[in-house]
Amino acid sequence: MTADELRQLLRRADEAYYQQDAPILSDQEYDRLMAELIRLETESGLVPPDSPSLRVGGAPTKTFAQVAHPVPMLSLSNTYDEGEVRDFDRRVAGLLEGAAYSYFVELKFDGMAVRLRYENGVLVLGATRGDGTTGDDITANLRTVRDIPLRLLGDPPPVLEVRGEAYMERAAFAELNRLREENGEAAYANPRNFTAGTLKQQDPREVARRPIRFFAYDLVRDRALAGDTHAAKLDTLRRFGLPVSAHGFHAPHIDAVLARIAEIDRLRHTLPYDTDGVVVKVNEDRHRDPLGATAKAPRWAMAYKFEAEQAVTTINDITLQVGRLGTITPVAELEPVLLAGTTVKRASLHNEEEIQRKDIRIGDRVIVEKAGEIIPQVVQVVDPAAPGRGPQFRMPTQCPACGSRLLKSDEEVAWRCVNAACPPQVRIRVEHFAGRDALDIEGLGEAVVDQLVSRGHIHTYADIYRLDVDTLAALDRMGPKSAANLMAAIDASRAKPFAKVVYALGIRHVGETTAKDLAKAFGSLDALRNASEAEIAAVDGIGPRIAAAVHAFFRNPDQAALVDRLVEAGLRTTDDREAPKGDAFAGKTVVLTGTLPTLTRSEAEALIEAHGGKTSGSVSKKTDYVLAGESAGSKLDKARALGIPIIDEPEFFRILGD
Ligand code: IVH
Repeated sequence: MTADELRQLLRRADEAYYQQDAPILSDQEYDRLMAELIRLETESGLVPPDSPSLRVGGAPTKTFAQVAHPVPMLSLSNTYDEGEVRDFDRRVAGLLEGAAYSYFVELKFDGMAVRLRYENGVLVLGATRGDGTTGDDITANLRTVRDIPLRLLGDPPPVLEVRGEAYMERAAFAELNRLREENGEAAYANPRNFTAGTLKQQDPREVARRPIRFFAYDLVRDRALAGDTHAAKLDTLRRFGLPVSAHGFHAPHIDAVLARIAEIDRLRHTLPYDTDGVVVKVNEDRHRDPLGATAKAPRWAMAYKFEAEQAVTTINDITLQVGRLGTITPVAELEPVLLAGTTVKRASLHNEEEIQRKDIRIGDRVIVEKAGEIIPQVVQVVDPAAPGRGPQFRMPTQCPACGSRLLKSDEEVAWRCVNAACPPQVRIRVEHFAGRDALDIEGLGEAVVDQLVSRGHIHTYADIYRLDVDTLAALDRMGPKSAANLMAAIDASRAKPFAKVVYALGIRHVGETTAKDLAKAFGSLDALRNASEAEIAAVDGIGPRIAAAVHAFFRNPDQAALVDRLVEAGLRTTDDREAPKGDAFAGKTVVLTGTLPTLTRSEAEALIEAHGGKTSGSVSKKTDYVLAGESAGSKLDKARALGIPIIDEPEFFRILGD
């Protein structure tokens, strides 16, 4: 396929996957076609600004270019007080001298302000607010955000300037932050900081891995159009395919504004993302210029902010939690307190630095807040000068679970227990190994693992393969039937794909995608184990940090011994690619075109690969065969022109048969 054809196909696949929830390509096919597109684009150096390849992240940069904002990006004046919202309305009425006006009320998204510029319908620039006049050019990062169209729908004007908010949903935030904490990386306090931190990354591929979302909230024109309103502009943005919140509300007067604010205060807890208030905007565009702006904020809009939900309570104790990779997370054990409808008993204190910065001590009265509405945070100590406070918090030097000495490396904020046999770590590692995304051993959940570890049946995940049915049947709440089922599930895990095995190992920084990349790139456990750090770093999508972690993992003698035992247990140690079935296509490159009578494209490809051949997307002098089906296109013409043998499906089977 040509780069253009690939782009079209991948665009359609993206739409089918993200908009229609009806994928037209398997993950593998998608990855392969995307890799092929990136290869072609790298080769030619031509990457159109709306290429789907930009969704997975372009090349990293050292610094961001600066961009001037032709229309300044102002902020909003804030209030927490309903009376001031009425004052705002009186001011507007006064300045408009009797002219009719109404309001538009929308959510105030708690993320990061972003400016987008479309030229002839194509996204050409995405920038941060910066100081309001000049911001960072973060176009490459914003192109990875799926909510942001690379190309607008319909009939957009030559230039379209959009303002909006990049944000992260709470659930995604909680999960990613948990992983960061586990990996010894500094956790973010809330989704807003995580969003800002992500969009300031220099590597767009990292941004692509994080689920940043976007809402458009303004269309900026050089000059107001007669009769235009904010509501109409939002509709226009919607028609161009930009995501606009459905919670916007046209309010005829200030009483309706206040009623809507009360509604949103109730509604906001049910939203999957944070809103820290409501933005009230004069709806009619023609009033905006006359109302004007102060140096910082327009006079035609204002933000009403909700008080963060806070409560005061006491820190009864600071305990330590041990993560899968030995990361120690300090946790505040709180005097139970009611906060935003739930009783809060514990709050993560994240790491030692954080505790010292806030000077949190056992016995302190503290303010707790629900940041991100679900995760309680200790905001500050109520009275740092209170008499008789306890001693400053010192991080213990020993693991609370196994007593080993804790270590901390310079580049990390977290202390770590490096004893591989530390029971809570073993428990979490075994759970990870058996988890649904890893080797999917049904029945080996928390309760069972807990018993196996505490009774000393399991010291590492490799011990799973030494369990017998009697040991299992003797566990609490486990009958002979479930023990037999669990044994069968353990057995079945031996056949799970190699990529799952790589993921199950629990190597730092190696998530599912990275595990797949590694499995594909190295093809076998032996090749992966023996790879140098540089070879690992050379794999597409794998940065130096991951490469170092993978390399170190296999150099660790304890881990190496564990891996040996997994090999002995009979887990799969080679990539799914079938072992060659024959050599009919050994060393040959085949190009597929058109629809074959019985084989799908991927079946044909698999057969070619299983018989020693490769497939390629485009016909060149290096092509050995073109396998052509119904409605084959330009590739066929090219093959004829180059005199390359063209075969059909029966001929293909005949060659395989030979
Ligand atoms: S309008 C000139 N609408 O709030 C006014 N801003 O203090 C431009 N924000 O950083 C802003 N939701 O990113 C507007 N529905 C909304 C908003 C919104 C969130 C943010 C904005 C800016 C801050 C203003």
